Amino acid sequence: MRNVTVDNITDVFEGYFSPETDPRTKEVLVSMVRHLHAFAREVNLTHDEWNKGLSILKQTGDITDDERNEFVLMSDVLGLSSLVDMMHSSNEATSSSVLGPFHVSNPPPLAMGGDMRKDFDDQVLLVEGQVTGTDGKVIAHAELDIWQTAPNGLYSSQDEDQDIHSFHGLLKTDAEGRFAFTTVRPVEYTVPTDGPVGELLNAAGRHPWRPSHLHYIIKADGYRSLVTEVFPSDDKYLDQDTVFGVRDDLVMEYTEHAADTFPAEGFELSGKVSEPYLKVKFDLILAKTD
Ligand code: BEZ
Ligand code: FE
Repeated sequence: MRNVTVDNITDVFEGYFSPETDPRTKEVLVSMVRHLHAFAREVNLTHDEWNKGLSILKQTGDITDDERNEFVLMSDVLGLSSLVDMMHSSNEATSSSVLGPFHVSNPPPLAMGGDMRKDFDDQVLLVEGQVTGTDGKVIAHAELDIWQTAPNGLYSSQDEDQDIHSFHGLLKTDAEGRFAFTTVRPVEYTVPTDGPVGELLNAAGRHPWRPSHLHYIIKADGYRSLVTEVFPSDDKYLDQDTVFGVRDDLVMEYTEHAADTFPAEGFELSGKVSEPYLKVKFDLILAKTD
């Protein structure tokens, strides 16, 4: 096309594809560009604004390295990560939620009833639950990869004073699909704001906080892996998670109990809890693989 106009440029773009292009690639690219063009027309995008957008993309690339992916964080705060997650999760299974950048590979084994607090002396949180399929069948020997912030609000990879495996653990459910361990209550924290995502949040007048949560990846043979989180019902950021990760079925009540009600056996801390402790029950439902 030698006479490209505001009105025909979107169709011209589509017309430039080769007939051999993979159909799905073409569908995704054409739709993305149709929306990009429509957006530019809708807001009457100026050169300054277009340059600003390109500069944000450049900064996002510049700050990204093997340990930090600002593109993922950008997708998280724009709600795209959560939207894609929700579009592909099963309605009958536990909701999925964002993975985030702080998962570490090869987490250390966490025994049933084990304690993740290690050197951190904070109020004990007993976490327990059962993993079942959408048909109600219990899932024995499911693998739970669990991680969270330390009481100082930092993940191990953000904190030189913590071992990389601090507050990370890999636990297997028992024959009845049950799991139990102790930890501390995770705390709310901010996503990193020293890059372009921080600039974007600022420009939008948005805060960078996430409600406190425990992360889980659950894997079991024959079932779809689930990446999710559990949030306490009294967290003040539940209704304004900056990465849009909260779903109704992931919000659980943390209840406080007298020290003498702590289980006398079955936990690493049995016989060692002398202060009131917290408890949360989080049952997980997995969908079968297709
Ligand atoms: C997290 O929960 O660890 C997280 C998720 C998205 C962005 C930043 C952190
Ligand atoms: Fe997190």
